[in-house]
Amino acid sequence: MKLLCIESTCDETAAAVVTGELEVLSSVVASQEKLHERFGGVVPEIASRAHVERILPVIDQTLARAGLGLADLDAVAVANTPGLSGSLLVGVVAAKTLCAATGLPLIAINHLQAHVYACRMAAGENVFPCVGMIVSGGHSNLYRCDAPTDFTLLGATIDDAAGEAFDKVASLLGLPYPGGPSIQKAAEQGDPKRYNFPRPLLRDDRLAFSFSGLKTAVRYQLIGPGKAQRTGPQNAEPANGETPMLSKQEVADVAASFQAAVIDCLAGKAEQAMRTTGFDTLCVGGGVAANKPFRERLEADATRGGWRLHVPPLSLCTDNAVMGAIAVERYRAGKFAPLDLDIAPGLER
Ligand code: KG4
Ligand code: ZN
Repeated sequence: MKLLCIESTCDETAAAVVTGELEVLSSVVASQEKLHERFGGVVPEIASRAHVERILPVIDQTLARAGLGLADLDAVAVANTPGLSGSLLVGVVAAKTLCAATGLPLIAINHLQAHVYACRMAAGENVFPCVGMIVSGGHSNLYRCDAPTDFTLLGATIDDAAGEAFDKVASLLGLPYPGGPSIQKAAEQGDPKRYNFPRPLLRDDRLAFSFSGLKTAVRYQLIGPGKAQRTGPQNAEPANGETPMLSKQEVADVAASFQAAVIDCLAGKAEQAMRTTGFDTLCVGGGVAANKPFRERLEADATRGGWRLHVPPLSLCTDNAVMGAIAVERYRAGKFAPLDLDIAPGLER
């Protein structure tokens, strides 16, 4: 069995060919990072236009690298939920067109389930049942994952996603986009105890996250609440040029202290989810899972708590099509999608 998997939910145009044995025959990711850099975040209109330009070359390259043609495939799979509408549409239309032209069956992928499946791919063995944690630019979700496509949402962020907080705080600090890697790098020289930023909801019984107040706390630390009130409402986005000149050490200290607060919140809730479910396996995915100190903390907690931890290598943490191998499970179960498959931008289950 050979499946072509397509991913275009946010700002990466990606395709991969995987086999029924979960072997990866080829994988291509065209990143749009450079296009969105100067805006400090993903601009949906730019993202969808870039997907349109890249989707066919990416698919061609993926098949060429695997040495395959469309006639060698058994199905085409595509992530149709959740994501940015314009971005999702490009991948879904491409997949449906390929299926209509060739008669190949179509498989719909849930992008968040696919992020957890990246752990299955990296582990090379079954990881289910497990607690699945997805921490990216768009999500901070905890799931009870009974099987690859059987997820129950345990909790999520009530405001910003973790990656979004990294991106916004990086912008406040004048660090380049994407903010996660920039903050991690700056934090290497910083003191994580210099500023005691809040850990919202950490002591709360709910399995939920909140990062918007943490971002505001960093803002107040930098410019003071008085000025913040004068320059805009409490939760206003950081305006460029609003941040005073900081020394390199101050930037490093704020970055390290902020990063420590986010890690405490994420790791604390992951541990709570492990206790609540009684499961013995934790799978973590999404761009923020690329954060080195976060990974180290998760490893230490897993050793102390006695559970198995799976965090994929960096290339499988951020968006990619290899994780679309979850389609193999659907293929085996005979769960195909109709050719009028729609996108579901907001569906999170
Ligand atoms: O999963 P992803 O590639 O895209 C989606 O949002 O779906 O995640 C991107 C997010 C960005 O917000 C980026 O700042 C964050 O992941 N990120 C990181 C790191 N690398 C990427 N956050 C913290 N530390 C990192 N090393
Ligand atoms: Zn993602």
